[in-house]
Amino acid sequence: MLKADQNDRLARVANNAPMGRMLRQHYWMPYLRAERLTPGGDPVRVRLLGSDYISFRTGDGQIGFIDQACPHRGVSLALARAEGDGIRCIFHGWKFDATGRLLDVPNENESAERTKNTVRARHYPVREAGALLWVWLGEGSAPRFPDFEFTTLPTSHIYAGYTEVPCNWVQGIEGTLDSAHVGLLHRSWISKLTPTSTRSIMSNQLVLRYEFEHRPYGLRAVAVRPMEDGSEYVRIGDYVLPYYMFIGSSNSAAGERVIFISVPVDDGNTLLFFVRYNFLEAGPLNTGAGFQTDAPIDPDHFATLRGDARNNWGQDRAAMRDGHFSGFTDNIITEDIVVQVSMGAIVDRSKEHLSPSDAAIVQARRLLLDAVQDAEAGKLPLGAQDTVDFRAIRADARILPPGERWQDHYSLAAENRRKAAST
Ligand code: FES
Ligand SMILES: [Fe+2]
Repeated sequence: MLKADQNDRLARVANNAPMGRMLRQHYWMPYLRAERLTPGGDPVRVRLLGSDYISFRTGDGQIGFIDQACPHRGVSLALARAEGDGIRCIFHGWKFDATGRLLDVPNENESAERTKNTVRARHYPVREAGALLWVWLGEGSAPRFPDFEFTTLPTSHIYAGYTEVPCNWVQGIEGTLDSAHVGLLHRSWISKLTPTSTRSIMSNQLVLRYEFEHRPYGLRAVAVRPMEDGSEYVRIGDYVLPYYMFIGSSNSAAGERVIFISVPVDDGNTLLFFVRYNFLEAGPLNTGAGFQTDAPIDPDHFATLRGDARNNWGQDRAAMRDGHFSGFTDNIITEDIVVQVSMGAIVDRSKEHLSPSDAAIVQARRLLLDAVQDAEAGKLPLGAQDTVDFRAIRADARILPPGERWQDHYSLAAENRRKAAST
């Protein structure tokens, strides 16, 4: 439970809210699939932290990321023409290159040169990595780029997609951190997704124990499900501030990793990224990957809702009577999205009654609120320090035999022991 003012401080990002200011200044944000921008192709609208931008790729491959409003009189540059070395506003024809520099001012004569030298569209640093495009929206010098393992792999090893979710980004983070819902909400899907053994554990063991370890990037949250024979099913997730959640994959032994990223579009909308990669072998990872469906998945809208509150987002009651648990039969992630959206644009956390299984969420909220406080005090918030080893972050999901605990393998101490032994 949070007081109303703390809830606002946690959730709100637009209009210069403290959380928005921190995210803008200290972290890179993924914003688009890299493939969406073709050289010389059309500009794409981007909305982040309540502000509007456009992004495009020039004919020679440079990526532009600039404010959406034309500096002349504010027309949306999402409407602009793509013209090889830049984009041209359709109102009076001002033309901008990838860095926001004015190349042409056709509605002026003698003054054109002066305008070109003095007016510029505000542009922001961009990176292409891990099949995604990333931007930094802050001022001064850019923070360190989070060089996660997948950002160093060729795109043939990566499936990356996203979908727009009409609710606040923190609901997205809380959803991906919450292991306790998996055996219930996803009951009808996990029978198809995971090996029989772990599926039955998650469906039959609805009460779990959360254990934690604080890390320089955030939190290692371990969902422990004790089993009758004394063994334990452990799901090791890594919450990396501010919006990354590494999820244990049942195929982790085969090199597969899964990450959700809940990027705040504004106070009431989130761009939810799903990244699945295999560091051992190249694809194919892009056919229904992770969604357990035979239908092709649109990577730009991987889980679109069928309606809104008025039709319960398309919940299929007939399917429920026939045995489907939730009534959302399109895609497993639709189930997650619907429950988050149904809480409202920003859930009122002053009214909740938390269970012990919500412990991971409580920790994550605290870390985010502490990070805002640190940023306000002029300190680098968690996950933004140079010391973080982003490449080493890997979630997992395993059954540990009786007598073994996750701390033996997955704690900082165990990792340091392994590092020492291999050097
Ligand atoms: S508003 Fe863009 S050129 Fe006039
Ligand atoms: Fe889920």
